[in-house]
Amino acid sequence: MTDRMRFETAAIHAGQEPDPATGAAVVPIYQTSTFVQDEVGVHKGYEYSRTANPTRSALERCLAALEGSGEALAFGSGMAAITTLALTLRSGDRVLLPDDVYGGTYRLFARVLGDLGISFATVDVTDLDAVERQLQAGAALLLAESPTNPLLKIADLAALGDLCRAHGCRFAVDNTFATCFLQRPLEHGADVVVYSATKYLGGHSDLVAGALVTADADFADRLRFRQNAAGAIPGPFDSWLLLRGLKTLAPRLRAHCANAAMVASWLASHPRVRRVNYPGLDTDPGHAVATRQMSASGEPLYGGMVSFELGSEDEALEVCRGTRLFFLGESLGGVESLIEHPGRMTHASLAGSGLEVPPGLVRLSVGIEHVEDLIADLDHALGPAR
Ligand SMILES: Cc1ncc(COP(=O)(O)O)c(C=O)c1O
Repeated sequence: MTDRMRFETAAIHAGQEPDPATGAAVVPIYQTSTFVQDEVGVHKGYEYSRTANPTRSALERCLAALEGSGEALAFGSGMAAITTLALTLRSGDRVLLPDDVYGGTYRLFARVLGDLGISFATVDVTDLDAVERQLQAGAALLLAESPTNPLLKIADLAALGDLCRAHGCRFAVDNTFATCFLQRPLEHGADVVVYSATKYLGGHSDLVAGALVTADADFADRLRFRQNAAGAIPGPFDSWLLLRGLKTLAPRLRAHCANAAMVASWLASHPRVRRVNYPGLDTDPGHAVATRQMSASGEPLYGGMVSFELGSEDEALEVCRGTRLFFLGESLGGVESLIEHPGRMTHASLAGSGLEVPPGLVRLSVGIEHVEDLIADLDHALGPAR
């Protein structure tokens, strides 16, 4: 956010001045691959849309403003952003990942980057002693998530940042679940923030995109060079859709968080539910750290994701089949509520890794429908106590 603009204002105005050519109030979709040059090497700042495109540039300025500082790069997906971050590594480097890391990130490191000589270890990012032991064994990058996916564990980002700095390890935070409205990892010592913008930043389940934000200008140049070399960019239309989604990030997130808090409390009192993972519950092990860390909006907000455990995989699958308003589907962060079974869906790529999620776990992305309708839907799917 700039000094002059608060978050809600930056979301609507940062990088989005009226179009100088026409006065268009909304940044146009510059649907062009190339830009005419006045003479060789003389142009208006744009040559070819893989390198830069004005719609994407507006998006990147807005993303950087919302993160509070630094430079942003927009990508064609969250995995494209993570892959480009990984392209800053070298053969022989070792990476640390959360032990309940997003399955796609795990797959990239376990089944693709290993072949290129980049190794990884997983660690419970809430256990600082365990993280320190892993850092002592040598690591070039810690890619943490907080809240983690799907167990919603809370990592103490400032403490991880201190440990990484002490051991010369780059510290990246996947902020997909919290977003910059709730939590700004750069302010807690992160070197780079990672997003699947497909989720809350876009907010309407109608695009796939990613982002990296860093306050280190040299590192931003290295990332930009690799992004242009590898080509992992979003097109102008998706950039525009994402820019439009960002405008309502604050009011959407407030509504997601309010609904999720009510759904989590309701689930916590349901006789069939064995455990609820939601950092907003004061019984949650991450509650104290989350209250401090997820307060970027000026008040603690704990996100729109909730997961809970039932007694068995069969019970979890039955509940996933039984909702009507909560659509059964992967992804998260859209205005509509989603339900999924991480073990069989988003985290299926962890099968056989020793990092499998509990079989009775169900994950909810709580949307912004009326909360009483959402609770009635879950009540119907869960049925009476058994
Ligand atoms: C925490 C997290 N990081 C990264 C990704 C990957 O993002 P994308 O699907 O946009 O490639 C996801 C996708 O679900 C995610 O949940």
